[in-house]
Amino acid sequence: MRKPIIAGNWKMNKTHEEAVSFIEEIKGHVPSGNEVETVVCAPALFLKEMNDKAAGSDVHIGAQTMHFEESGAFTGEISPAALKDLGITYSIIGHSERREMFNETDESVNQKVHAAFSYGITPIMCCGESLEQRENNETEQVVRGQVAKGFEGISAEKASDVVVAYEPIWAIGTGKSSSAEDADETCGTVRKVLAELYDQDTAEKVRIQYGGSVKPENIDGYMEKEHIDGALVGGASLKPDAFLKLVEAGA
Ligand code: G3H
Repeated sequence: MRKPIIAGNWKMNKTHEEAVSFIEEIKGHVPSGNEVETVVCAPALFLKEMNDKAAGSDVHIGAQTMHFEESGAFTGEISPAALKDLGITYSIIGHSERREMFNETDESVNQKVHAAFSYGITPIMCCGESLEQRENNETEQVVRGQVAKGFEGISAEKASDVVVAYEPIWAIGTGKSSSAEDADETCGTVRKVLAELYDQDTAEKVRIQYGGSVKPENIDGYMEKEHIDGALVGGASLKPDAFLKLVEAGA
């Protein structure tokens, strides 16, 4: 039985004050951590205070990206050691916006997954096809490649702790969500690849989220699918009431 995981990805939104008051507003209202895992992935600048405010609640705070090196000459980057030092225990890795705009590759995603485990951080590893790839019937091939490379060198024990977020790029921020059936089919492909890479038992333990224009009105359709264990949500995670509805739907 996989515990559902609902994660908000705020992207480059909110001020410090808005970030902190969001946590104050939701933290007394999220369902128990036994029912659903609740994660808010916020801009790095706000993580410490959000994490302090969330202490003792069932809300976890995550980063949106991190580097794979511990320290060094990487201007503007976020160190996994610094995240650990702040008590941050989740990071999105390889979001399509990072792949498209910041040159992240399957190889750097894999390095980051390794680094995350070295620092006690749960990776939320993203994969997903572009519209062109979908129209060329390349979805399965693209997602297979991303997952196989992303998990390279990761032991079966660690692999079962990775959260995979399947996000078709054409559905992100567009309002054009994937049908629950199509999303489940590709999440099923992810699970099949994991069974091939490891074994069925490991594949059954991995939580797979769907992401792409998820909102309170459509989340139930995804959550009832066999291979979908939660959602990675952008726009609809920005308002406390909408985010709480999403988390409740996940429970
Ligand atoms: O990480 C979240 C995804 O990019 C989805 O964003 O819910 O605004 O479509 P969205």
